[in-house]
Amino acid sequence: MSKAPIAVALDAPSLDVARQWAGEVAEHVQVVKVGLEVFLRDGHQAVEVAREASGCEIFLDLKLHDIPATVGGAARSIARLAPKYLTVHASGGSEMVKAAADALPDTFITAVTVLTSLSQEQLTAMRWSGTAQEIVATLAQQSVAAGARAIVCSPQEVAAVRQAVGEGITLITPGVRPIGADVGDQQRIATPEQAIADGADLLVIGRPITGAPDLAVAARAIAQSLGY
Ligand code: C5P
Repeated sequence: MSKAPIAVALDAPSLDVARQWAGEVAEHVQVVKVGLEVFLRDGHQAVEVAREASGCEIFLDLKLHDIPATVGGAARSIARLAPKYLTVHASGGSEMVKAAADALPDTFITAVTVLTSLSQEQLTAMRWSGTAQEIVATLAQQSVAAGARAIVCSPQEVAAVRQAVGEGITLITPGVRPIGADVGDQQRIATPEQAIADGADLLVIGRPITGAPDLAVAARAIAQSLGY
C-alpha cells in the first residue's frame, strides 16, 4: 500500500506522546513534521525519535527568520539531522533564503509565505498591501529564485502559487480540514481533496489527526479520501 502525501504535525505535549503519534500514523502517511513546540522542548532528540518511530521522511518546521548569517548558521546546526524539509520565513528576504539553501544543499529549503492563520483583514491591518494571494505568489517566486525547493502556502493560494513558480517546486499546504472538522485557529482553509485538486503536493495536517480518538483511523480515512 502506498502512503498518502500527508505530513502529520506532531505538535505533542511530550516526547513520549510525539513518539506514540509518529508510530500510529506511520503506515498511512509519507512525512512527519516536528515543529517548534516539540523541538524547543526536546531538541534534536525529537527528530531522532520521530524518525525511529515512524520511518517517515522528516519535515523540520522551525520557520527560521533572522539575518542571513544567523539563518545559515542555524541551518548548519541541524545539518546532522538531515531533514527532507526545513522551513524558513519567505519574508526574511532572498538573501536569507539563499543562506539556508547554501548551508543545506540536500534539504528542501521550504519557504513559508503567509501563515494560514492570518486572515485578509489581519494582513490589511498590518499594512501588507495587496491580497493574500498576491503577497503569497510574490514571496513564493522570490524564494524559489533564491534557492527554495518547496513553498508553504494556504490551500486557497496553491493554484496561484503553482502558476507563479511552475512545475518542479513542491507545494505544501497546511490549513487543511476535512468536512466537519474543527477549524481551530486556521483561517484560509480547504478540504484535503480540494487542496490536492488545486495542485498541492503535500498536505500538513495536525489536529484533525492528532486530536482524533484513534490517530491511525483518522490518518487512514484522510488517506483514503485522497485515493490511497
Ligand atoms: O493542527 P493543524 O492542522 O492546524 O496544524 C497545522 C500545522 O502546520 C501546525 O504545526 C502549524 O505550525 C503548521 N503551519 C501552519 N501554517 C503555515 C505553516 C505551518 O499552520 N503557514
